[in-house]
This record gives sequence, structure tokens and C-alpha cells, in this order.
Amino acid sequence: MTNDDVLIIGSGIAALQLAVQLTDDVNVRILTKEKLRTANSYLAQGGIAAALGANDHPSKHIVDTLEAGRFHNNPDTVQQIIQAAPNLIQRIAQQGDIFDKDQAGELYLGMEGAHSEKRIVHGGGDATGKNVMEFLISQLKQKKNITVEENVFAYELLRNSDQKRCIGVKAKTSTGAIQRFYGKHVIIATGGCGQLYTYTSNAPTVSGDGIAMAYLAGADVVDMEFIQFHPTLLYINGETKGLISEAVRGEGATLVTEDGTQIMEGVHPLKDLGPRHVVSQRIYDFLKKGKQVYLDISNIKEFRKRFPSITSICEDNGIRISGGKIPVAPGSHFLMGGIKTDLIGRSSLDGLYAIGEAACTGLHGANRLASNSLLEGLFQGEKLSQWINEASKEPLVLAQDYFYPPHKEEKFNLPTIEKIKALMMERVGIVRNKVNLKKQQALLEQYQVEKILLDTCSTQDMTKIFMLITASLITESALIRTESRGGHFRSDYPKEDQHSWLRKSIIHNYKQGM
Ligand code: SIN
Repeated sequence: MTNDDVLIIGSGIAALQLAVQLTDDVNVRILTKEKLRTANSYLAQGGIAAALGANDHPSKHIVDTLEAGRFHNNPDTVQQIIQAAPNLIQRIAQQGDIFDKDQAGELYLGMEGAHSEKRIVHGGGDATGKNVMEFLISQLKQKKNITVEENVFAYELLRNSDQKRCIGVKAKTSTGAIQRFYGKHVIIATGGCGQLYTYTSNAPTVSGDGIAMAYLAGADVVDMEFIQFHPTLLYINGETKGLISEAVRGEGATLVTEDGTQIMEGVHPLKDLGPRHVVSQRIYDFLKKGKQVYLDISNIKEFRKRFPSITSICEDNGIRISGGKIPVAPGSHFLMGGIKTDLIGRSSLDGLYAIGEAACTGLHGANRLASNSLLEGLFQGEKLSQWINEASKEPLVLAQDYFYPPHKEEKFNLPTIEKIKALMMERVGIVRNKVNLKKQQALLEQYQVEKILLDTCSTQDMTKIFMLITASLITESALIRTESRGGHFRSDYPKEDQHSWLRKSIIHNYKQGM
């Protein structure tokens, strides 16, 4: 058993930003499922959006964010985060020389989909996430108040006896032992749920654990129907192999068929740099008809220099950059929904916070604007640290644990991970409809996973259980939302419903024993 001021589950950019900004008198413990660097943030290629250009202004960035989010965003959250962005990025740029510069020595600003100005800051060409993570890890190593525990699989949030406050988490360590970790502030920073789908850009660990745990502990979970599919993952022999950043289209690449026809002509005014759901749906239509889609990169000068990580991903998979064409397919990339929080990450359950992709602050609405996610993680990490630096001075009252009522099911059958992913892709993926969603709902209900006693499960079974819970939340929300908006597309309701109650969010709250 351990007892800390701050217990962080997950180790992406939001988690590390929070940890390093906490003052030295705050004890911090980070639990991570695999290694410190095994996080989506580390893979992020694109960059961080901030209105830094001479012709740019936060108000333009705000409009782009709301437009991409199809006005499902929380406007106050959007305003606060986007207005803070230029200052936040300049401060990091001054502290660590981690962003690319132009010939005049100014931050190089790239273009990405649905942005009206060049405002994407990159590091290492296309290794922005890695650069920022390494910068934060170098700070973390100097701090004596932070303990990092790798290969710890958190699986059940602990609450005090009146169930009103989260006080820690139960986890399996690498030896398989069950350990209780207590914390005055328990932070979920486990990312989204990209691994629920066969095609994904996400790290292998990102399968919805934190969201499922928070849901089972009674925290509100919201907007789960909004999943962003990134249009361009490298696609070889029916498998996706990694992200081909939107920045590639920002530098002039276009989407073409085998015979060179440009597929985004006449589809959206922004063509290849249209919103991700529009571009993904278009590519999906071609793939469904058995037609391969490519990124034509032949007009990008010095591709290798600008995109070293993408060059390696392609060449490791047998695609020659000099050939000028990269085969692509869309895959799940980002969850706009998640654990419902305020701007700084407070959830509906006292003592429990969520930051980064696991949280839904309302910044992204129904579809996230490219490169707004690292920004959100950095912002939330900093804001929550400021709040905790004050709050942690209050004395800790550690009440007794609430003991969960005995779960019923000790024997259970679970589907394979491959089956879960394939059915989510087919029935709750880029294009959805009532028939498929109902089929998926009926299937998921059969498993009754909420009743399974987790203590006796292997971590692989726990992963499946969390995947099935998260899949149910997405499926239920997708059925209820009888319209199409941003990352949620229903072929049976293809239009946005401007006037109905659907403009509101769908919130899930689990009541134990129901
Ligand atoms: C990309 O590089 O295309 C991804 C950036 C993002 O998702 O924000």
C-alpha cells in the first residue's frame, strides 16, 4: 500500500506536464501500464496549434476549432484554452529548444486540415510528441518528489465508505500481485480508446481503461459517440501501419486513386485539407469499392528532411519515398468524448480528475481540430498543477474504503480482442446505421462485463472487459444520436439536426447494482 498527494494513472504529455509543474513538497506517483514512453503523445507527429503567425489571431483559431467541432464544443473552454496557447508555446520554446525554426530563427508554422492559417508548431520535423515528452522527462528526472512505477495495471478505483470520493486505485503489478495505491488527488491520464478498432494510429496500450474505470466508479462519461478517424494511416496488405501526418497534406500532398484522379476535388472547399471526417468518409467510400487511395507526395521537396519519422515508417514497410505515392486508409485516432470534466480536469466524483484525451472538457466538440490535443494536454496539466499546489496544503482525510458489493460472475466468456476490434470497425466505425448499432448493442449486452470480479482476472481479460465497457458506451451514444455531426456519421441520418435536443451531450452515469 502506498499513500501520496497525487496519484497519476498514465504517462502522456498531460500526465508529465502535471507532474513536473507540481511543487517539490507535493508527493507524486505515476503508474503506467507499460513503459514511461509508451503513450500516444510520444507518437504524435503533427504538432501543437497556436495563433502565433503575423496574420493570425486567437479569434481565428477559436472559429476554426468551433467549426471543426460542429459547434458541439463548450465555447468557454475553447476560448480559455485557445487564448492561452500562444503564451504557453512561447514559454516552452524559451525553456527548451525543441521546436523547429524557419530561416529567420522564428518558430516554423505549418498548415493542417481545417485551419485557416499556418499555426502548427513542430519539433524534429514530424516528431513533435517525442520532443515534448523528452523535454518533460528530462525535467521529471530532476524531481525527487515524483516516483514512476512502470508495468502497473490499474483496474479499480477506490472510494471512501460513503462512495462520494475517489481515494485511490487497485492495480496489478508486474508480478501479478494486487496492490492498493492511495492518493489525495487521483488523476486519470490514460488516453482514449483507439485500440477498440482494427485500424488505428494509437499506441497498443490505449484501449479505454481509464474511461471504463471512471464509469464503473460512478463518474459521468460524455460524448462517447464522437470518434475521430484520421484519414491517412499507411495501409499495406489490408493492415494499417502507422500515421502519415496531416502535415504531409499541409505541405501539398493530395489524395489520388491509382490512375491519379484527385478524390477531394468538388467534395469540400478545403479539398484535401477539409475536416477529417469528410476526408475519411471519402477515402472509405473508395476502399469499400475496392479502389486503393494514395497520398501523392511527388511535389514535396526534401520530404525525407521534413518528415524523417514518416520516411522511416514507410521504408520499414517497403514503401519507397522516391516512388512519390503512399497507400493510405482511415483509422481511429482520437476520442472527443471521455470522462466529463471542467477546464482543469475535475470530474463529477470528488477526488477524481481526468486530463488529456481521457477527459472531455468540451474543447473538441464533435470533431477535434488538428493539433489541438497536445495543446489541451499541456494546458490542463499546467492548470491542474496550479490548483493542486494550493489544494494539497489542505490536510488529508483518509476515510475507510468502500467495499464493492460482491460481483456475481466468476465464470465468463469473452470474445477475442480481434473480434471486438473488427466488429467495432464494421458496425460502430466511420459509417454507422441503426441496424448495425442494434446488432452491436445486443452482442455487447450478452457479456454483462460490469458484473465480473476483476481481482481474479488476468490483465488480458481486464483489457477486454474495459474495451467492452467502452465499446458499449460508444454504441449506446451512437444509437441515441439520430443525426450526423463531426466524428459521428449515421448513413440513416446523414444531416446535422440543427434544432433538436441532440445539440446537447449524451451523458452516461453508472449506478452500481442496477
Ligand atoms: C497528424 O499529424 O496528422 C495528427 C495531428 C493531430 O491529430 O492533431
